[in-house]
Amino acid sequence: MTDHPVVDRFNRPLRDLRISVTDRCNFRCSYCMPEEIFGERYRFLAREKLLTFEEITRVATLMAAQGVSKLRLTGGEPLMRKDLEVLVGMLAKVTGIQDLAMTTNGYFLPEKAVALRDAGLKRITVSLDSLDNATFRALNGGKSDVDDVLRGIDAAVDAGFGPIKINAVVKRGVNDHTMVDLARWCKDNGHILRFIEYMDVGTRNGWRMDHVVPADEIVERVGAELPLVPLDRSYDSETALRFGFADGVGEIGVIASVTRPFCGACSRLRLSPEGQIYTCLFAIHGVDLRDPLRAGASGAELTHLIQSVWRARTDRYSELRGRVDEGEKIEMYYIGG
Ligand code: GTP
Ligand code: 5AD
Ligand code: SF4
Ligand code: SF4
Repeated sequence: MTDHPVVDRFNRPLRDLRISVTDRCNFRCSYCMPEEIFGERYRFLAREKLLTFEEITRVATLMAAQGVSKLRLTGGEPLMRKDLEVLVGMLAKVTGIQDLAMTTNGYFLPEKAVALRDAGLKRITVSLDSLDNATFRALNGGKSDVDDVLRGIDAAVDAGFGPIKINAVVKRGVNDHTMVDLARWCKDNGHILRFIEYMDVGTRNGWRMDHVVPADEIVERVGAELPLVPLDRSYDSETALRFGFADGVGEIGVIASVTRPFCGACSRLRLSPEGQIYTCLFAIHGVDLRDPLRAGASGAELTHLIQSVWRARTDRYSELRGRVDEGEKIEMYYIGG
């Protein structure tokens, strides 16, 4: 970490880098890559457009020198990127990086968990919206059964990851009737479940406010069956509001980007698969690093670019939701949640 961290216009330091390694995914979650739009003929990015592992590592190294201490790999589905464990190994060696995590749909973990652990990955978050197979399949475009994901979670536990976090997006009338079951299962198995309010990311998921189950309602409905007590945030910029089970065993979180925005402490920068940096999940424009990287820019030049982007940052989309002209927001499958 540097002594004088680079801060934005609201005095927020740059601490986390979320790296999207691919725009591809083997699932078609209705809230992210709806099947009707991302069908067989949808064209994803060509390989030469993606940053190489060396380029990603160079960016991460420069960011670490600016105060970034936490990296998260996302996608699309990050494990769709071939040999991802090689990148993990490279990132694990970057000086200043204290936390290296990945958010995945879990499908490929049976074949990858051990290699990821050996390469130095510290934490895994698996997305699983319901334990009810029909509900889960309806949400993921019929691409996976619950059992496929459970095998992935088991593989991660066996490889030594733990506790695993489970992300569940809640969509009203679709999976909210299965929240309590999922909470009970996570509690019983030692996983930390986080319910996520369905967000208006991108422009293609047909988001409507009445699809959102507000955090207060989630906590009330789960708490009615499994009593909950509020816990403090474990770190300043944490996305989730935390609750412990009243019997002292386990916790859940609620990520309330819609009803309780958390932009005030947001220290996250996002790197797209093509090497653009975005200062907000809901950004309309990114700033390209790939061209300068490939044109032989020096470390000082790239650092200057990164610093100037962060210093100019005023994003607080979730706090302004509905009050700003939204334009063509970046898609979740591209920038990785
Ligand atoms: P920890 O490092 O374990 O605290 O996880 P995290 O919450 O930072 O990462 P994760 O990828 O699990 O994030 C969970 C979900 O929170 C994401 O999938 C997004 O849906 C949402 N999320 C993460 N960061 C942001 C953010 O900066 N803004 C908004 N609006 N949502 C975010
Ligand atoms: N709203 C909330 N969360 C979303 N995710 C993807 N799309 C949305 C959305 N529209 C979550 C996934 C996964 C993470 C990568 O982002 O469930 O956990
Ligand atoms: Fe794939 Fe994750 Fe998007 Fe679902 S939410 S389509 S698993 S990238
Ligand atoms: Fe950060 Fe933008 Fe999310 Fe607010 S909406 S927490 S500024 S990424």
